Amino acid sequence: MVQKEHRLFASQFKKRMDAASQERVRIVIKEQYKDAFEVLEDCENAGLIPGIVGPPGVGKTLLLRAYAEKSKRNFHWITGDEGVRPSHLIGSFNPALVLQKGFNLESFEPGPLLKSMVFGSVFGLNEANRLPEYVQNSLLEPFEERSANVQRLGRIQADEDFFPVLSMNPEEMAGAHRLSEALRDRIRVWIKLGYPRKATEIEIVKVNCPEYNLSDHVLAQIYSLVSATRSSTDIEIPASIRAGISIARLSAQMARRKRLEEIDHNTLSTAAHYVLVGALRFRPGVDAEPAVNALVRRVLGSKRSSESGQST
Ligand SMILES: Nc1ncnc2c1ncn2[C@@H]1O[C@H](COP(=O)(O)OP(=O)(O)OP(=O)(O)O)[C@@H](O)[C@H]1O
Ligand SMILES: [Mg+2]
Repeated sequence: MVQKEHRLFASQFKKRMDAASQERVRIVIKEQYKDAFEVLEDCENAGLIPGIVGPPGVGKTLLLRAYAEKSKRNFHWITGDEGVRPSHLIGSFNPALVLQKGFNLESFEPGPLLKSMVFGSVFGLNEANRLPEYVQNSLLEPFEERSANVQRLGRIQADEDFFPVLSMNPEEMAGAHRLSEALRDRIRVWIKLGYPRKATEIEIVKVNCPEYNLSDHVLAQIYSLVSATRSSTDIEIPASIRAGISIARLSAQMARRKRLEEIDHNTLSTAAHYVLVGALRFRPGVDAEPAVNALVRRVLGSKRSSESGQST
């Protein structure tokens, strides 16, 4: 039974791997995204390492994925935090295999940085500024010399298509330490991504909701909701693009379940509440529930005014 389950798992795992390799990135390449894409190309051709800086959910990771896909390369990545060690980047020996085979390549399990250097892929280092300083410093040789020393195995020179890119949230956000001066010095080009303009963000929401038919009116309302959070003084971390996509998908699915032809005011308000109550970080002392209720009511209007067509 256990063996049968294991075989089933192995075959499903393979199918899921195939699915992952065939998945295509859906990206709106306009305005800041187009500019950033072009600068990434320039950096690669000029042999410079770029850093992409922007608040959560503005498309930093997606941009790198799209960049790797366009250049028909793999994309390896890792997200930095306090627990990441150099061995998580480079790889480590599997103790059980070492017992059988000794310290050689067969018993070594490569990490994403080493894979990327060997296969020549795009390497995304998310939240680089959350890595402990000594881990940041372990990146200096791979980034500057394009080489890495793997203990007991030897030194490798990276494939010429190895392209490291860092991405991070702006430093003033909680949990983000500064980049070590040495690593900062290796990042030569800084690409800033912010919240896109209205028409672009609406297009992004649409692209991420291909199975739902969202009216222009509803899309504009969702944009009004998320953009209101970005100008509120009560809110420390506002709604990201992700939050807008989630409101769109949840409200469309709720309307489908209720067999509504259109997403109505009540459904949109309810969906917005479910998403925003966890998506926003308010200033200390502000109570999230009532603050979200007030925000949704202010932006979408009360039910009656919406039904008489006064609310936009
Ligand atoms: N230009 C775009 N085209 C299509 N979808 C986008 C675009 N920008 C962002 N998105 C969507 O917004 C969501 C967030 O994007 P992504 O995960 O790349 O953000 P991020 O900046 O890496 O966030 P974090 O800082 O939290 O890692 C994803 O669902 C992504 O598909
Ligand atoms: Mg990301």
